[in-house]
Amino acid sequence: MKIAIDSTPSVSSARAARFMARQIRSNPSCVLGLATGSSPLAVYAELARMCRAGGISFAGTRTFNLDEYAGLPPGDARSYRRFMDENFFEKIDIDLSNTRVPNGAAPDLDAECAEYEAAVRAAGGIDLQLLGIGANGHIGFNEPSSSLGSRTRVVALSQKTLSANARFFGNDPGAVPKKALSMGIASILDAKKIVLLAYGKGKADAVAGMAEGPVCAKLPASALQLHPDVTVFLDEDAASKLELRPYYDAVARDIPA
Ligand code: F6R
Repeated sequence: MKIAIDSTPSVSSARAARFMARQIRSNPSCVLGLATGSSPLAVYAELARMCRAGGISFAGTRTFNLDEYAGLPPGDARSYRRFMDENFFEKIDIDLSNTRVPNGAAPDLDAECAEYEAAVRAAGGIDLQLLGIGANGHIGFNEPSSSLGSRTRVVALSQKTLSANARFFGNDPGAVPKKALSMGIASILDAKKIVLLAYGKGKADAVAGMAEGPVCAKLPASALQLHPDVTVFLDEDAASKLELRPYYDAVARDIPA
């Protein structure tokens, strides 16, 4: 795991966007795995800016999102489908029919999850997976205790996640759907390359556990230690509990600023 630490979220996001842009330019028909939430917003904005400026094109790419709330139809303003359309897809030159988010309103959610997993495989797998991390160490909606061998499935959201995501539901944790469809940890580990973003003090414990703790279901992101190609972009606050900082800084000199 390579860890690049920058002074602020905006400096780090710009660096992460340039990192992703290089991958996309080197493989214009790549398959991207994408995340929602606050962490990737500035990365999406910067990639969209590059696209408008002609520096990058998404015309040949396909995307698969990590997760979606169960019960929210794609048109719901709070759905992750809408989030992606508004914050990214409508701002770049991608063909919308090449973008997939699990359908939270599918009549048979288990069948939707199995079909989603098959669709990723049929696309040749994910070349570059973008991740955030929950304060409880979740990746996707794989909450603590998720099997490290899990695949795309219906999951129950933890109380911590319901509270954290209440900001998108009128600050009412009770209004957040209790379940979601999420790519599994094993599905995520299948990606050829992984980029993870984490910003703020609230992520510091999860980041330290992910990078330096034991690999365990209690902190799902720790499973990323088993992946050979993970690059983590942090601000100083999210990095503040890492013990091996000098080594990360030495290794990160290879990641262009
Ligand atoms: C979102 C997702 C989640 C978020 C995580 C961090 O698709 O899968 O794992 O990445 O909850 O969310 P933010 O970035 O809002 O702190």
